[in-house]
Amino acid sequence: MTTVIEELLAQLRDLEREGLEAVRAGGDAGALEALRTEYLGRKGRLTGILRRLGELSAEERPAIGAEANRVKEALGALLDERAASFASAADDGPRVDLSLPGRARWQGGVHPVSLVIDEICDIFRDLGFSRVAGPEVETVEYNFSKLNTPLDHPAADMHDTFYLSDGVVLRTHTSPVQARVMEAFQPPVRVVVPGMAYRRDPFDASHAPGFAQVEGLAVDEGITFADFKATISEFVRRFFGADAKTRFRPSFFPFTEPSAEVDVSCRICRGAGCSACKHTGWMEIMGSGMVHPSVFANVGYDPEKYTGYAFGMGPARIAMQRYGLPDIRLLYESDMRFLKQFV
Ligand code: PHE
Repeated sequence: MTTVIEELLAQLRDLEREGLEAVRAGGDAGALEALRTEYLGRKGRLTGILRRLGELSAEERPAIGAEANRVKEALGALLDERAASFASAADDGPRVDLSLPGRARWQGGVHPVSLVIDEICDIFRDLGFSRVAGPEVETVEYNFSKLNTPLDHPAADMHDTFYLSDGVVLRTHTSPVQARVMEAFQPPVRVVVPGMAYRRDPFDASHAPGFAQVEGLAVDEGITFADFKATISEFVRRFFGADAKTRFRPSFFPFTEPSAEVDVSCRICRGAGCSACKHTGWMEIMGSGMVHPSVFANVGYDPEKYTGYAFGMGPARIAMQRYGLPDIRLLYESDMRFLKQFV
């Protein structure tokens, strides 16, 4: 028959074996803390065994007490050691995965309308034109009067124009810069003028109330319509390609005489007719003409001595043709999914 002391010694040995095994298997700091409580805590399994100490004689107790202490120290030491190893692993900080692919650096790009403007101005620079700018807030005098446009002309109507105050407008075209350049410089003059213009147009697939234009002006002695046609045809070939055809269509502007709209054979259908060119095979790229003698008189040039031509084109429309865009609003929405394609 086993005595109580033998029973308790056996229980202590079992507790030590099980405990050491469990601590070695403990997967993290939390599991180790739970094991410390289970085995060595105030209401733990070791305390449970020692509760029967009272059943032993006074001579027997020290032997069980010493064995219980040895087990407690052995388990405690292994718990401390394992806990310390988890703590130092955590100190290493987050693991760095060197096999992750790098993140591409974010890159900005030039807006498609600006790309077209720069390309237009670069071609005209090669043809001898300087690039200049003028104010977007204009006086009625420069926007209309100096350009031979009477104030009862529809373009000057409240309905079509953003007036800021009496006599001050958001320019409705870049043409007032023609007058500003001619007042500042004597001929020969050759300039291109990129910039914004504003009209009370609807915001739909082919119109916007604010839009870019590129104005052009050439003035000298003896400039003829033949010079104009040759220069524009050369521009069209360089910008749209050698197979692009140019067409001059009679038109009217108060500040040019004669006036013409310039069409280019549609780049999308190559002239066959498609929805982009409204099935005409042609797309309009600019209004133009020979500078009206009255405009020369208004800016102090001698109309008997000088002649010249002027034109104004819409780079957004040209960008639509170049990139095959179905809706002009794409150029205004700042949608990164669209703009990223031009980087
Ligand atoms: N300013 C005109 C427009 O915006 C275009 C133009 C410019 C016409 C120069 C003739 C000469 O429609």
